[in-house]
Amino acid sequence: MNQEHKIEGKEHFHGSDLEKIEKHFGIPKEKITGFGANVNPLGISPRMRAGLADKIDVITSYPDPDYTELRGHIAGYTGCLPEQILVGNGCTELISLFVQIHHPKKALIVTPTYSEYEREVLLAGGTVSHYGLKETSDFRLDIPDFCQQLTDDVDLCIICNPNNPTSTAITPDEMRQILSCCKAHHIFAMIDETYAEFAPDDIRVSSVGLLQEFDNFAILRGISKFFAAPGLRLGYAMTSNLALLNDIKEHKNPWTLNSLADVAGSLMFTDQEYIEQTRQLISSERERIYQELLTWKNIKIYKPYANFILIRILKEGITAYDVFVHAIKQGLMLRDCSTFHGLEDETFFRFCFMMPEKNTELLNCLKEILD
Ligand SMILES: Cc1ncc(COP(=O)(O)O)c(C=O)c1O
Repeated sequence: MNQEHKIEGKEHFHGSDLEKIEKHFGIPKEKITGFGANVNPLGISPRMRAGLADKIDVITSYPDPDYTELRGHIAGYTGCLPEQILVGNGCTELISLFVQIHHPKKALIVTPTYSEYEREVLLAGGTVSHYGLKETSDFRLDIPDFCQQLTDDVDLCIICNPNNPTSTAITPDEMRQILSCCKAHHIFAMIDETYAEFAPDDIRVSSVGLLQEFDNFAILRGISKFFAAPGLRLGYAMTSNLALLNDIKEHKNPWTLNSLADVAGSLMFTDQEYIEQTRQLISSERERIYQELLTWKNIKIYKPYANFILIRILKEGITAYDVFVHAIKQGLMLRDCSTFHGLEDETFFRFCFMMPEKNTELLNCLKEILD
């Protein structure tokens, strides 16, 4: 996942590759702003910061194997039922568990997207078929066309919503159509909602409301991005297929979520003020940056629904790597998207929304090279 990719001799860096960047460009990692990591710029929840140290003694016992209290808080936060929740070691463990339990012969993955899904399917011995979002349709999913690809030979369908790296989203109504098609063809759908909480208030993105209607899908989420705590490794899955949940529970190692993360989760999911502040900050920066970039002539942008935006360079002779290098020299680390399946032509890069003044600094920096 975090391995370095080399394309034509150029090194490509992920959001967590700060040590490599430090070595390669000679910039101290403390001086780098992570526009490539998609993490909430407000940092961790103040309620968790204030409360967690006092709970340190929880590590003297095993966590509750059912994580009853934590699941109650997640249910309150998301609107699903506690019995529909399974917690795990980050969204990554849950992706792995759901893929393993389905042991798919053929998985259909909507691309370009997060590479971990494909890796897990291949590790589980399955084959992957890609449904490519079309740049000419601004990477929006064509639902009727996609549904035609949901045939009996597919057993698992994987969608990231909002999608990384396009920041495009599928509405619950559209998802309902997809899940109906999946049901008709006995396909299980895995929907990664790592970025759903960043979506604008007026546009519902999450499929939590469909849990009562369909039992052929699971929603996977984590706290790495919205709650800015990737080191804590807390993820959760929601599904109304309780038989499947039990099956996974029986197969998985117990206590993959440690007792500190268990307690931390209970604190952060109830930090209403921080949750609201995050949503407001991201919404206003997303709108401000989107409106600004719409006026630039040498790029194409795609309407963002998550906490990041995908940009296509239209300026002759400038690649995403050139933009990456220009920005990193000023301590601003964005994501060259050439390693994403479907975006290999080196014209795409992505950045997430940080604090307003840093975002303005990045825009000024990008203007220098893209104007
Ligand atoms: C779409 C998506 N899903 C999952 C993850 C990993 O989540 P976690 O840290 O909860 O395992 C990432 C991380 O970049 C991601 O972009």
